[in-house]
Amino acid sequence: MNTPLIVGNWKANKTIVEAKEWLKEVSSIKYQVVSGVEVVVCAPYVALSALKEQLLTPNPYTLIPKLGAQDISRFDEGPYTGEITAKMLKELVEYVIIGHSERRKYFWDTEEILKEKAARALEAGLKPIYCISEKAMFIPEGVEIVAYEPLFAVGTGSPDTPENADDVAQEIKKRRKLRVLYGGSIKPGNARDFVQKPNIDGLLIGGASLLASEFSAIIQNAS
Ligand code: PGA
Repeated sequence: MNTPLIVGNWKANKTIVEAKEWLKEVSSIKYQVVSGVEVVVCAPYVALSALKEQLLTPNPYTLIPKLGAQDISRFDEGPYTGEITAKMLKELVEYVIIGHSERRKYFWDTEEILKEKAARALEAGLKPIYCISEKAMFIPEGVEIVAYEPLFAVGTGSPDTPENADDVAQEIKKRRKLRVLYGGSIKPGNARDFVQKPNIDGLLIGGASLLASEFSAIIQNAS
């Protein structure tokens, strides 16, 4: 089994103060097997700088999560008021979620736009975590990490079955070499069932990533 990639997606939650508190709590928990899992937290843009600084400060942390963003501009720098570009993010994060179902639903991110976002991320050396809700959906060229997140499972408390998610991940991998995460109603109690499946390479976690104690329990159960 490859090292599972455990990604927290806070969505539009947490102030900078709350973000720093969370990081302190998650980082200071003593994990028995911290090396067995790679952890990423995708925070709101405004908290990223503070989190990065906190992670650079010498500390006794046993777990050092990597940082990710939840979206990216389809444009390079220029006259695009309000946009956050790949070049800006490159100073702060290693990963970026692209194509989350909430972006598609509420912000009209079409496949054409998502293709451009993925291209901007890849040009800058960021790692896209590209979300799809069905196995046959488009995946942009160059993307190496895909999150399968069925719509019925996102934020509902009704996850897919680990067996079905594994089958879907297997199908997705037939296209090319990809790391496939599962996302949708992951909790401490079901995380292990998913990561133990041969085709599931990690988890994308929304609601259960908000509480440091729950997210820590997921990490421990997945490692
Ligand atoms: P959930 O969200 O874990 O709250 O279901 C998953 C996601 O939106 O990535």
